Amino acid sequence: MTQNLADASRPAAAAPAPAAALGTADANSGEPRGWWRDAVIYQVYPRSFADSNGDGMGDLPGVRSRLPYLRDLGVDAVWLSPFYASPQADAGYDVADYRAVDPMFGTLLDADALIRDAHALGLRIIVDLVPNHSSDQHEWFQRALREGPGSALRDRYHFRPGQGTDGELPPNDWESIFGGPAWTRTTNPDGTPGDWYLHLFAPEQPDFDWDHPAVGDEFRSILRFWLDMGVDGFRVDVAHGLVKAPGLPDLGSHDQLKLLGNDVMPFFDQDGVHEIYRTWRRILDEYPGERIAVAEAWTPTVERTANYVRPDELHQAFNFQYLGTSWDAAELRTVIDTSLAAMRPVHAPATWVLSNHDVTRHATRFANPPGGTQIRERGDRELGLRRARAATLLMLALPGSAYLYQGEELGLPDVTDLPDEVRQDPSFFRASGQDGFRDGCRVPLPWSGEQAPYGFGPTAGGPSWLPQPAEWAGLSVEVQTGDPTSTLELYRSALTLRREHPALGAGTAVTWLDAPADVLVFRRDSAAGSFVCTVNTGAEPVRMTAPGRILLASTEAVAVEGETVLAANSTIWWAV
Ligand code: NOJ
Repeated sequence: MTQNLADASRPAAAAPAPAAALGTADANSGEPRGWWRDAVIYQVYPRSFADSNGDGMGDLPGVRSRLPYLRDLGVDAVWLSPFYASPQADAGYDVADYRAVDPMFGTLLDADALIRDAHALGLRIIVDLVPNHSSDQHEWFQRALREGPGSALRDRYHFRPGQGTDGELPPNDWESIFGGPAWTRTTNPDGTPGDWYLHLFAPEQPDFDWDHPAVGDEFRSILRFWLDMGVDGFRVDVAHGLVKAPGLPDLGSHDQLKLLGNDVMPFFDQDGVHEIYRTWRRILDEYPGERIAVAEAWTPTVERTANYVRPDELHQAFNFQYLGTSWDAAELRTVIDTSLAAMRPVHAPATWVLSNHDVTRHATRFANPPGGTQIRERGDRELGLRRARAATLLMLALPGSAYLYQGEELGLPDVTDLPDEVRQDPSFFRASGQDGFRDGCRVPLPWSGEQAPYGFGPTAGGPSWLPQPAEWAGLSVEVQTGDPTSTLELYRSALTLRREHPALGAGTAVTWLDAPADVLVFRRDSAAGSFVCTVNTGAEPVRMTAPGRILLASTEAVAVEGETVLAANSTIWWAV
């Protein structure tokens, strides 16, 4: 199934994007510098970004055609969610061939052209790597099933006999993150009921057994395949899940979902995973241009997250504690402090993220009372957008690297009223799963025009794999471009300023200044200048001394005779 670029036609690897000065140190903090330490990385969800051929599904040529938009937006790198050969049981996070592009998204030549064009525009490309599990259609798993008990391929996954008199009960009590048991029973080639296999996610996503040396060998080879293609890094899916506790012990609790992310589990955040990342780091370091890896690691604490980014492991880890924080000054200050403090001893940059393809968009989270990252209510749209814009300016003023999710620059809300029959999230169909409503943040982007799919596809009136709300005509890139009050122009200004003012992203510390309740005031200094950020998370305006000259504000703001009023739910950047 692997799509090989015939040797003769195989393009030479796309040259890495121009590297930031290597081996230099930040003037203030003494920390090593690298392009990724303060990079703004934009997540493209390929099926929902841009559809070049009008089949209703976004694709790689579509992404390629929109790269100038991303360059103009001012981001440093693009992370692409999976576009590999996949039956799409979990929107591509079920990979059948790690070295092939799914025909739905294009070809390897399209991937190559995308990487080259991105580099020519000064954008880096990060691809998703899914090492915890494959698709059940992966050749190894298919052979393991076909060859039956005793197949050597079974040792690359977790096949186990069932419990009970006839093996009719699962081997242990683990539950799938998507709901239901984490085990599915197989049928032997002769039709009799067989062993069970482990899948922490959907049954179509069997977990690899990383104790088997062939699994590690294969993934080191996959890393090299994409590094040779010229990618600048990897986002590592379920980075905390690869190693399971020996013997796969029972959890002994039926509240698994409550424990997730709050406790060390026998299938998550086991210390053995770190040895894997040490071998990967050595491979990444062999390549020129500072290739990086970012861990999707849900751990109980930021301190445990820091283990993934020790100097000889991965470069960054998503800060899900930050993503899960409510719009509350005190809570935000605490998570900012603990995140920075956790990363300092390992010399890794902190990262910040507000939205991604697995959680309710922050414009909708903040439109509702605090309630986790899966919100099903539309909430107060105006309030949500106002807070979302303020939250973004706060995030982009913090030291470290920030992740943006496609469409947040348009202020898109979640689509909370998708009809059940159009939903595709596998966890929606498995009762009691953790997620279930992730389609709401995956609706294709509105680019232009009055009629759906609003420029997502080439033809007005053409299809889109999820329907877009009619009101998105007013949120398109075309409508927002040039409107100084639009969210798109706010992002563009913020990202331009972030490049001009190194104090915004560089370093490892913020200096907190005195502030009234519900308000955060912090200072950021660099050799190139100083800067203050004021954030009012409260519902009332707050009068205060103006710290300097206004650079940018999430909502209308003025400073008169040294005084200013911080509007409710707003952020202002000040040059001082
Ligand atoms: C995390 C991904 O972000 C999510 O979309 C996916 O369902 C799970 N990992 C399983 O791969």
